[in-house]
Amino acid sequence: MPFAANKRKSTTTSGLANVFQSLPNVAIGTVTLLLLIAQIINGQNPPQTCPAVNDISPCVCQVKKNGLDILCEATDVFHINRAMTALKPKSPIIFYLKLRHNNLPKLQGFIFLALDIRHLTIHNSSLAVIEETSLSSLGKGLTQLDVSQNQLQNVPSSALKNLHHLLILNLNHNKIGVIHSRAFEGLDTLEILTLYENKISNIEPEAFRGLDKKLKRLNLGGNHLTTIPQKALAIFDTLKKLEVQENRIETITEGDFEGLRNLDSLILAHNKLRQIPANVFSHLKQLNSLELEGNMITYIDKDAFSGLEENLQYLRLGDNDLHMIPSESLRPLHRLRHLDLRSNNISYISEDAFVGFGDSITFLNLQKNDIKTLPAMVFENLNSLETLSIQNNKLTRIPEDVMEPVIDTLRVVDIMDNPLICSCDLIWFPNLLKELKNRDDEMTQKKRPMCTMVNEHREYFVQNMPLERMNCIGKSLGGALSSNKATMGITFTMINLVIGTMSACLI
Ligand SMILES: *[C@@H]1O[C@H](CO)[C@@H](O)[C@H](O)[C@H]1NC(C)=O
Ligand SMILES: *[C@@H]1O[C@H](CO)[C@@H](O)[C@H](O)[C@H]1NC(C)=O
Repeated sequence: MPFAANKRKSTTTSGLANVFQSLPNVAIGTVTLLLLIAQIINGQNPPQTCPAVNDISPCVCQVKKNGLDILCEATDVFHINRAMTALKPKSPIIFYLKLRHNNLPKLQGFIFLALDIRHLTIHNSSLAVIEETSLSSLGKGLTQLDVSQNQLQNVPSSALKNLHHLLILNLNHNKIGVIHSRAFEGLDTLEILTLYENKISNIEPEAFRGLDKKLKRLNLGGNHLTTIPQKALAIFDTLKKLEVQENRIETITEGDFEGLRNLDSLILAHNKLRQIPANVFSHLKQLNSLELEGNMITYIDKDAFSGLEENLQYLRLGDNDLHMIPSESLRPLHRLRHLDLRSNNISYISEDAFVGFGDSITFLNLQKNDIKTLPAMVFENLNSLETLSIQNNKLTRIPEDVMEPVIDTLRVVDIMDNPLICSCDLIWFPNLLKELKNRDDEMTQKKRPMCTMVNEHREYFVQNMPLERMNCIGKSLGGALSSNKATMGITFTMINLVIGTMSACLI
């Protein structure tokens, strides 16, 4: 229309006037064009604009650097449809479309047609049906899809199959019971898939077919699995992290993790495992972190961790039913840094408990066990130990010669809640606290363990044991040195005071 009007005008006005009139227009047009080209060259998107507030209400729209950010909460299908319609004419990039706490039981076909959505969230919206054609138009742009906390009973496979740029799919907190064969076929760019807190009890052997090229993280936690879905998982040679925590897995067997040769982290916590059999992890040559806490493990085969020798650094075995440190099984793990054995039923530690694998350990947690004594040489080869937690045991003594091998490297030590007897061989503790204070204030223990002074029938903070009544000086080198230092400190302060007083008098 404007073009036609102009043309008509040019025929009626004189040629020269027309040229002068249109010059500025040409200039502006050129500038706009140049700007556009510059933006394209710079890789920037042209500026986005939100529709009129009334047209998309109760949804709200904000312009962000990468596109529009749209939020629709506590509304219904009608209003969401209306908002989508208002967005279509300008075909903006919608960087985030977040639909939360709505009443949206069904996602209708073509609802997002002609919209370029990059991240789509439909959360806690009673969603039970995703029609096949509702998402298919988003295939070129959508990278993240979050449909968590809804009523889905199946993976909406047909609606997903065209999302060829999807990187993250979140199906957490739905009601999915079975993952059928090829449920995710077409999602060949997917890197993260999370199915946490569904009701999955069965994963068919071909369930993950098509995800084998890119998938890095898979979360199957909080479901009803009783075994590792070995056949379905075996295709994942790029997978880095597998979470199967909070299921009902009673046994794992050799071969269960076959194929996962790049796995870095395996989480089996909070299942019902009683035993860790030989060679069960032997295919996981790259495994760095293994979490087995919160099971009912009483037995760990001596070859349980074979295959993990070169890479395992983090091992969590807390909240199980172990009666001793499984040293035989741990011995080959010469890279182990972090060993957590809290809340087991360990009452006895043998002198050679850490021989062979202790060198690399920086973090050792033995809290909430039943440990009564520490043999003299037990920590001898823990040459890298920085954190030691032995609170909540039955220790009456923690002799200085037991601690001596680790005292130089320790930065955090917790001995709270033990029935400690105040004695000279605990002097290492106040000394260490002073040291730690000098090394790093933040690391200084805020906790104050108590000990019982037997002959006085009363308790003291270990920091404040009445050394003068304990005949300690001379009995322990570290203690004697440090109390000398303290005495000298006091002496200097007194001299200063005296000098101060004298100078005050002189003035
Ligand atoms: C889910 O949405 C409903 C409204 O549909 C709301 O009442 C409820 O609090 C929301 N739940 C959560 C966990 O946000
Ligand atoms: C801990 O071990 C002792 C035997 O050493 C056993 O009597 C006790 O029941 C165990 N406790 C738990 C909580 O398993």
